[in-house]
Amino acid sequence: MKFFVDTADVAEIKDVAASGLLDGVTTNPSLIAKANRDFKTIVAEICAVVPGPVSAEVASTEYTQMMKEAHVLAKIASNVTVKLPLTWDGLKACKALTSEGIKTNVTLCFSATQALLAAKAGATFVSPFIGRIDDMGYDGMQLIREIRQIYDNYPALHTEILAASIRTVGHVRDAALAGADVSTVPPSVLKTLAQHPLTEKGLAQFTADWAKTGQKIV
Ligand code: G3P
Repeated sequence: MKFFVDTADVAEIKDVAASGLLDGVTTNPSLIAKANRDFKTIVAEICAVVPGPVSAEVASTEYTQMMKEAHVLAKIASNVTVKLPLTWDGLKACKALTSEGIKTNVTLCFSATQALLAAKAGATFVSPFIGRIDDMGYDGMQLIREIRQIYDNYPALHTEILAASIRTVGHVRDAALAGADVSTVPPSVLKTLAQHPLTEKGLAQFTADWAKTGQKIV
C-alpha cells in the first residue's frame, strides 16, 4: 500500500518525507484554507519536496472553468495530480484531462457506482471518503470493499483506490485489508502507525539490559 499524507502544511510534509516512507500528498480546499497561504505557491513547494503524486483540487464546479484551472495547476509541476469533484462536470473534465495525459484524482466519492464512473472516465485515483461515511453511522470500509471487487471484475479499469478521510490507525489497517491501493492520512495518524505500547516496553527493557553490559557498538 502507498502512503500519502493529507495536509497542506509544508513543514509537516517535509518532516514526514524525511522518513523516506512517503509516496505522495493530497490537499483539498479546506486544507488550503487552514494553511492560509497562496495555493499555487503551496503546491509548488510540496511538489519540490515530494516526487510522488501531489493532488491539487480545482475550485470551480463548472466544466469549462474546471478545465482552465486544471491546466494552470498541471503546469505547476510534472507531479501535480488534478483533483476533481465526483460530479458530471468533474467526470467530463476527468475524461478530457486523461486524454491529454494529465493525472487526475476524482474526489468526494461516496458510492461504488460513482467509483465505477470515475474509472470509466480514466481517473488515475478515486477518493472514497471513509471517515465521513462512518460519521453518518454507516460502514465506510464497506465502500472500499465494493469498489475493490468491482474494479477487480474489470481488468481494463486501472484507477487506483485512494482511501481518504482516514482518521485512525484502524482505518489504515482495514483499508489495507480491503485492498485499497493508497491511504491518505493526516500526519499525526501516519506517525501513530509506528507506535505500540509493547514496542515501547520492550525497547525500554532492551536499553536497560544493554546498559548493564557496559559495551558500545561504535
Ligand atoms: O482529502 C480529503 C479527505 O481526506 C478529508 O478528510 O477528515 O476532512 O473527512 P476529512
